[in-house]
Amino acid sequence: MPWRTGPAEHAAGLRSDPYRVWLSEVMLQQTTVAAVRDYFHRFTARWPDVTALAAAEDAEVMAEWAGLGYYARARNLLKCARAVVTDHGGTFPKTAAGLRALPGIGPYTAAAIAAIAFDEPAVVVDGNVERVVARLWAVQTPLPAAKPELTALAARLTPDTRPGEHAQAMMDLGATICTPRKPACALCPLAPFCAGHAAGTAADLPRKSPRPEKPTRQGFAYVALSPAGDVLLERRPDKGLLGGTLGFPGSDWSDAPAPAPPLVAEWRESPASVRHTFTHFHLVLRVFVAQTVAPGMTPCASFRPADLPTLMRKVWDAAQSADWPQRA
Ligand code: ADE
Repeated sequence: MPWRTGPAEHAAGLRSDPYRVWLSEVMLQQTTVAAVRDYFHRFTARWPDVTALAAAEDAEVMAEWAGLGYYARARNLLKCARAVVTDHGGTFPKTAAGLRALPGIGPYTAAAIAAIAFDEPAVVVDGNVERVVARLWAVQTPLPAAKPELTALAARLTPDTRPGEHAQAMMDLGATICTPRKPACALCPLAPFCAGHAAGTAADLPRKSPRPEKPTRQGFAYVALSPAGDVLLERRPDKGLLGGTLGFPGSDWSDAPAPAPPLVAEWRESPASVRHTFTHFHLVLRVFVAQTVAPGMTPCASFRPADLPTLMRKVWDAAQSADWPQRA
């Protein structure tokens, strides 16, 4: 993983750059290592340190983040970079407690950066670590109630030396061997000490309290395109889902009746609708298209669907199947 340093570098007194550790940890929240890798390379090539990132335009960062999801992370990323520059002279605080005070850094991220970049024996607990620990001690309490218990158990394993490598080893074990469904106990170095394995129940742990089913919400999106290929886009308000991202005008996603289109035109509904799943609901969007000219359209040459969040890329794709007027 491109943000890591190895044991030899650690022995030589070298530590991972806190900027790179922070960036990777924020990107990895709710996202897999495989999905993050290219984003990480693009961000660090474009903004090699926290001062460079703090000086970036909001829209540039939102565009680079497009597709990673959970856009509040990108807005907090910028807020945090700017706080490090204005309040800390461009240097990250060196303790979990200091890091925790920065925007967008929760207990997990603070502990991970403190352990990996600064060798603090902070207790790093993500979903992978929770699973490993629940199995090691055969914890029967279901999640999320089990969280404090699992954190206390994880603390018992956390060493004073090389705590960052320990934390990442735990995460790697959870990601590759102690996997949610079919753990590879035959390959696991901890199998001889694992109560879950001994009891034959490792695969059923951690237990989980049943989650309520996700509701499905409906909405509308409007794709206006000029004959020259200019598109009508709007930036969403900073608060709320997809806050601060660019997209097509439309309804809120509350099952309210269709809102008035953003302008008067001959709107046609695309035969393709869009389905997208957020953390707490499924969304179905009906997509309407019109060929028209409107003030404030984004010129064709500067419109890149890749700068849009995935939901809005799907809207764009659905708009392609609409019955457009013949293009000149
Ligand atoms: N998931 C989140 N952070 C990670 C890290 N540093 N190593 C492996 N997996 C991770």
